[in-house]
Amino acid sequence: MCGIVGYTGHRNAVPVLMEGLGRLEYRGYDSAGIACLNHGGKHLFVVKEKGKLSRLREELKRHAVSAKIGIGHTRWATHGEPSRFNAHPHLDFTHRIAIVHNGIIENYASLKEKLIRKGIRFASQTDTEVAGNLIGHFYGKGNLLEAVRKAVKELRGYFAFVVIAQDEPDKIVAFKRSNPLVIGLGKGENFVASDVTALLPYTRRVIYLEDEEYAEITPAQVRIFSSSGKLVKRTSVTVRWDVSKAQKGGYPHFMLKEINEQPAVVKSILASHVKNKRIHFDTLDRKLTKRLKQIRKVHFVSCGTAYHAGLVGNYMMGECLDLPAEATVSSEFRYEDPSVDKRDLVVLVTQSGETADTLAALREAKAKGALTLAIVNVVGSTVAREADGVIYTHAGPEIGVASTKAYLAQLTVIALFTLYLAGIHPCRKKQFSLLKMKSRLQEMLRLPSQIKETLHQEAAVVRCAKTLYGKKNFLYLGRGYNFPNALEGALKLKEITYAHAHGYPAGEMKHGPIALVDNRQPVICICPESSKTYEKMLSNIEEIKARRGIIITLATQGDKQVAKLSNQVFSVPNTSEMFSPILTAVPLQLFAYHVAVLNNRDVDQPRNLAKSVTVE
Ligand code: G6P
Repeated sequence: MCGIVGYTGHRNAVPVLMEGLGRLEYRGYDSAGIACLNHGGKHLFVVKEKGKLSRLREELKRHAVSAKIGIGHTRWATHGEPSRFNAHPHLDFTHRIAIVHNGIIENYASLKEKLIRKGIRFASQTDTEVAGNLIGHFYGKGNLLEAVRKAVKELRGYFAFVVIAQDEPDKIVAFKRSNPLVIGLGKGENFVASDVTALLPYTRRVIYLEDEEYAEITPAQVRIFSSSGKLVKRTSVTVRWDVSKAQKGGYPHFMLKEINEQPAVVKSILASHVKNKRIHFDTLDRKLTKRLKQIRKVHFVSCGTAYHAGLVGNYMMGECLDLPAEATVSSEFRYEDPSVDKRDLVVLVTQSGETADTLAALREAKAKGALTLAIVNVVGSTVAREADGVIYTHAGPEIGVASTKAYLAQLTVIALFTLYLAGIHPCRKKQFSLLKMKSRLQEMLRLPSQIKETLHQEAAVVRCAKTLYGKKNFLYLGRGYNFPNALEGALKLKEITYAHAHGYPAGEMKHGPIALVDNRQPVICICPESSKTYEKMLSNIEEIKARRGIIITLATQGDKQVAKLSNQVFSVPNTSEMFSPILTAVPLQLFAYHVAVLNNRDVDQPRNLAKSVTVE
């Protein structure tokens, strides 16, 4: 987590850094700060504040800072509580070097002790300050790049950082190990950031730094060096993302904007991969396709919302192919000594492409010879670059911490990929005929307009949220394809309202959660008519009704049976069970959103969370 930004060039660095930090705030918002150096100036000037960026903005109004170079940071605390002292940037003990950092330095405690023994004093509890002081310790003769290189040799862990030094007044030095850094190329100015969204107002020409690489960035040039010190040649790539996509565009929150973008997102995914009634993935080459035909098992590995997408993927694979499939959270997969080999396909599902556990799981799977496929939103992210194959979800930047459009994009891509695999693999289920496949694909093409129709449920959702927003406990139930959505609905609500919400497979309700049900307990039941367990789900709803629970159902339009049993119904258009989670997710997102708004929660930046979890 944490967002890093750096600028060197002809503009005033302060607004550039603040704009960049605004776009990176989703990565952490415990505290924020900037460090600048006036052109030819004598001192590093540091301003930092605990809390959101708005507090730093207020503080900056009291200082007339103008600089041509600077670095900035927005923090999600790992080492040391959120406070002004622990906020970045940190100065080294000589006060000549400033550093901002993302990630964890695992051996910081022993290094700190060593430095303290040399008489170096520390002002914070952070691991970052250890890196800064180590660089300061090696800086002696005034070569920042060299000092960074020496320091990195002693640092263990996964991190990226950016430093400036007052004696080299136009230079930024950056280093990356695992955590992302992207360099933006301008004319007479250059930029660096954790994520391209921070660069979009200024440039679309970017270079993604690779692991163990250093960059020396001045207004005139960017030089990249390998770990052995060799100059690396790297061509820039052009980012296609639209800058307006990273702005609210009239919506009160990014989350609501992103929910409303979903019909367009799904439409563009279908347009890019379905041509002449066939599924194509331009990014999967012949060699990879050949290996896909030979795989014996599919593993979906992911975290958070992306894990729920993987779980839905499991059901999809199970319906279409006679191949075992399994979804595992990345942090479990990587430590369970997964028994995978070259006949296993490991699908890493990730919005950011930088989630530390998913990246580690990818590396583990690759080391064991498995075929790895990344389903990723952020173009050029580490998971996308390291996997054997990649399918981009192209949902555009997702800024709201609670994932919405990325989830629908993941479900859509996984559905397409499942149909594609069923088309090329010898283990397609017998009952899943080519004809059936074709009709499923036709059905998928209706999803964008069906999602749009589902969005019209918002007024009903608001009415319901108004009656329930004071509740502290919610139960979400679903079966089959919609069990993962019960988890996802509960996760959305927890994340942004801080109410307790529990997702459960409806069939298991009798083994515990039913004890919660009384006339004050809201139970959200996902019950599309196309589900093969529709009737079983109806019985579960009856059981809740018998205990006078408050029943909110997600049902197929016109379903009178469900309506009779429910206090409130959110309806979705009819589609095959396989695609139903793509529709039922929408009212769940809207419900969480409106309950959060009614509770005055910080929807886009809920407490303690970050969009991209780049630490274990
Ligand atoms: C965090 C985010 C979630 C996301 C999860 C996995 O918890 O808040 O929205 O689902 O990380 O992130 P990824 O980028 O790998 O999809």
